[in-house]
Amino acid sequence: MAQKDVGNKIPIYKLKTTDEVMKYYDEWGIKNKYDQDMLDWKYSGPKEAVEVFKKHAENKNIKIFDAGCGTGLVGVELKKFGYQYYDGADLSQSLLDLVPQGLYQKISKIDLNQKINIQDNSYDAVMCVGTFTFGHVKPHALNEFIRITKNKGLICFTINEGIYEKYGFDKKIKDLKDNKSWSVKEFFKSDYIASKDVNAWLCLAEVIK
Ligand SMILES: C[S@@+](CC[C@H](N)C(=O)[O-])C[C@H]1O[C@@H](n2cnc3c(N)ncnc32)[C@H](O)[C@@H]1O
Repeated sequence: MAQKDVGNKIPIYKLKTTDEVMKYYDEWGIKNKYDQDMLDWKYSGPKEAVEVFKKHAENKNIKIFDAGCGTGLVGVELKKFGYQYYDGADLSQSLLDLVPQGLYQKISKIDLNQKINIQDNSYDAVMCVGTFTFGHVKPHALNEFIRITKNKGLICFTINEGIYEKYGFDKKIKDLKDNKSWSVKEFFKSDYIASKDVNAWLCLAEVIK
């Protein structure tokens, strides 16, 4: 069967550089357009990811890092299930400004394609939803997620189906398995933005140190 041409489904998929991506999201945040579009598109990434995460993370007091938190849609889901401590970080200041007050303990502006300015073993879990997509964050960020996560901590993330092989996420996930950096507990094709005929791989892995 022919591979779906996901790259034509949504305008952001045409962006190439981090600067273009940042400018696009900074404008997308104006008048809450990003959140409205996500509602209109029935974007289910955050809900699906947290549904999977909560099966593996019974302790609600763990410390979670939401990488590429945008306007905080993952935080909203974490709150629904009683998680108490999560920090968020994103490239777009305009989206960070829209995060509801008090939802995250701490929010910061960050470029996840660079080394993350956080100490080793700082978090029990990393969530990264919607951020591994065209022109956004590359597979090597997974090394940093592992570095900042404690032994037996969890990394839960989506990968847009259109870049999974193209950007080498298939190989990266396998390499991290082969060199015993993590053990993959969940891996399946999720709905994600089904209304636009765009699905994502949803992966949850346990860190081994
Ligand atoms: C599709 S949105 C997902 C946001 C949020 N996780 C959600 O599910 O609504 C992708 C997010 O990745 C962020 N992003 C893109 N490139 C990034 C980078 N290099 N570093 C950090 N965040 C980045 C964007 O600013 C945007 O908020």
